[in-house]
Amino acid sequence: MRVLRLSHVVAPNTPKGQALEHFAQLVERYSQGRIRVQIYPQSTLYGDADEVQALQFGAVHFIAPSLSKFGRMGLPEFELFDLPYAFDSLEQVRRVMDGVPGQLLLERLQRNGVHGLGYLHNGFKHMSAQHALLTPNDYLGLRMRIQPSRVLADQMQALGASPVALSFGETYPALQRKVVDGTENTASNFWTQKLQRVQSDLSLTGHGYLGYAVVTQQRFWENLPNNERALLDQAMRDALQWGNTLALEHERSSLQALRGTTALRVHTPGAAQTQALRRALLPVRQQLAQRIGSVWMDLLTEALHS
Ligand code: LMR
Repeated sequence: MRVLRLSHVVAPNTPKGQALEHFAQLVERYSQGRIRVQIYPQSTLYGDADEVQALQFGAVHFIAPSLSKFGRMGLPEFELFDLPYAFDSLEQVRRVMDGVPGQLLLERLQRNGVHGLGYLHNGFKHMSAQHALLTPNDYLGLRMRIQPSRVLADQMQALGASPVALSFGETYPALQRKVVDGTENTASNFWTQKLQRVQSDLSLTGHGYLGYAVVTQQRFWENLPNNERALLDQAMRDALQWGNTLALEHERSSLQALRGTTALRVHTPGAAQTQALRRALLPVRQQLAQRIGSVWMDLLTEALHS
């Protein structure tokens, strides 16, 4: 029996946790027990800082980092997905993933010896701190935890906050010790990491997208017997398709749970407040265009309207 290792950083009861669990079940079923996928969730095997290296060394076979974590692999074009207020819905994100930019990005992974298997949704991010974050003024001087993405750093700076890049596993302790004042994440990550215990106010800005690319080591993938590679590929396609229907339900149930938490105040920005946030964040797009070239912005716009 072949045992393959899959490592990720979130809780099992999240869109990513469940989709990857489904992948493991499908692999077991399609291979009639000949291949097993052992899952290590919650950074128990590798965290954000070392999982890519572990994959490149062959210590783990599959990882699913968020799209915000590929910039530091020398692929800043992935940060297109981090642009604030770039997407109105998951359907729009899907168009970009299935379209030219999304497919080009998966191909680019090969430069790092990595093979992209597909994309997976989590959902839209909201802002949290110890007070409401509804207008640009509310962010002034705050230290905000971000994922290691230049776009996310520019986003926080455009709002007058100081970005602090920390791995996912470090986020709760850093908020608890007040090393940082606030953060951004999806409702499901917020709820399953219990951030409501260390943050008093969640503002439903929905300003940015969080999703993943599931990847494997290219050499391992190419050296697999054809029938096993086809089986794993099919299982991943089926699992991602299934997993991509989960995001909205997780968003709904996690938000409901968060709203029911007495110690947490949940705020919704009004139209004028959202407008002010959008306006403050406009330069972020220009900054990314300067780094990766305006042709990527054109590809994004075309895919959004395809
Ligand atoms: C984060 O670091 O906030 C996220 O990328 C975690 C995840 O994998 O959803």
